[in-house]
Amino acid sequence: MKVLSVLYSGGQTAINEPRLLGTIENKLGLTEWLQARGHELVVTDDKEGADSDFQKEIVDADVLITTPFHPAYVTREIISKAKNLKLCITAGVGSDHIDLNAAIERHITVAEVTGSNVVSVAEHVVMSILLLVRNFVPAHEMIERGDWQVSDIARNAYDLENKVVGTIGAGRIGYRVLQRLVPFNCKELLYYDYNELPADAAKAVGACRVASLECDVVTINCPLYESTRNLINRDTLKHFKKGAWLVNTARGAICDRNAVKEALESGQLNGYSGDVWDVQPAPRDHPLRTAKNPLGGGNGMVPHYSGTTLDAQKRYAEGAKDILERFLDGKAQEPQNVIVDGGAYITKTYGQR
Ligand code: NAI
Repeated sequence: MKVLSVLYSGGQTAINEPRLLGTIENKLGLTEWLQARGHELVVTDDKEGADSDFQKEIVDADVLITTPFHPAYVTREIISKAKNLKLCITAGVGSDHIDLNAAIERHITVAEVTGSNVVSVAEHVVMSILLLVRNFVPAHEMIERGDWQVSDIARNAYDLENKVVGTIGAGRIGYRVLQRLVPFNCKELLYYDYNELPADAAKAVGACRVASLECDVVTINCPLYESTRNLINRDTLKHFKKGAWLVNTARGAICDRNAVKEALESGQLNGYSGDVWDVQPAPRDHPLRTAKNPLGGGNGMVPHYSGTTLDAQKRYAEGAKDILERFLDGKAQEPQNVIVDGGAYITKTYGQR
């Protein structure tokens, strides 16, 4: 079998730190194990354009392993070229970089390491909410500059206590965010999701299910697919509470980048934070790298790393190996890991179908 994996280049850092498993240097720890079993492993970070290693090597690959952090975009056109492709493994969570409908038509299995980094992301969400609400980033920048003007920071710093926080999506990450917010004594914890939380789970965090979100803080924790692409746009942003904070660690393309920038600049949003970008790596001139609110703060954007802590990398590398081993041994996959299989969606997460 030929296994192709598209990972990011970690350079000397990844050579010095072998726990950076999601890099081309450390290859998810698969090299010796796959070679001992007589299979071929090709690893590359070169993923854009017809001349890229990815597009050349996919033509006869049996298995493709990708990550959401340096996504190889597996379009319908690429699937049509990949004549031998039987399995796409996402080392992580979120397989929107694969055209799932095209994979279904070709009866390609798409599996991901469900749950592998959900705590990592939930912690990042709570951090992002706090850094926006408390106006942390400009405060730190002021200190680095050598300045000290408390009023310039305090004029836009609040407590999280007594605020209304809502999540779009209350699955593994969304629910863990709600759990972690309980001790902050928020006024209300709300969730918007077509899948209802079990009553005891909702009660345990005091969360109410709502049909629309009118919140101080909105956190996005649903997958990217047809009906969530551009869910946050000029029109929906008008219905946000004035001065709300928005955290997106789900996927960049759920938010219209220019609409978010305009909402920040006008003060309709007081802050935007997260780690996901519509196309990754984000171009240097991506508007959300630098967009600010009228008081010069409100931007907590970082590169896509919330779900790729060293702890998470260990879990998703082991999980990807398990999925691959099951496939090579002809064993059934763990049901919760299967996104599409046998010509159909298996997951209930990518919309009501
Ligand atoms: P999950 O499958 O456990 O939960 C997703 C929830 O979203 C489900 O309850 C589903 O019903 C709900 N949902 C789907 N469409 C919706 C819609 N239109 N409106 C409201 N709710 C909707 O998935 P999990 O593990 O919580 O991950 C969620 C997403 O987070 C992933 O799909 C991925 O895009 C992103 N993610 C980001 C990471 C990062 O490093 N930034 C790492 C891991 C996941």
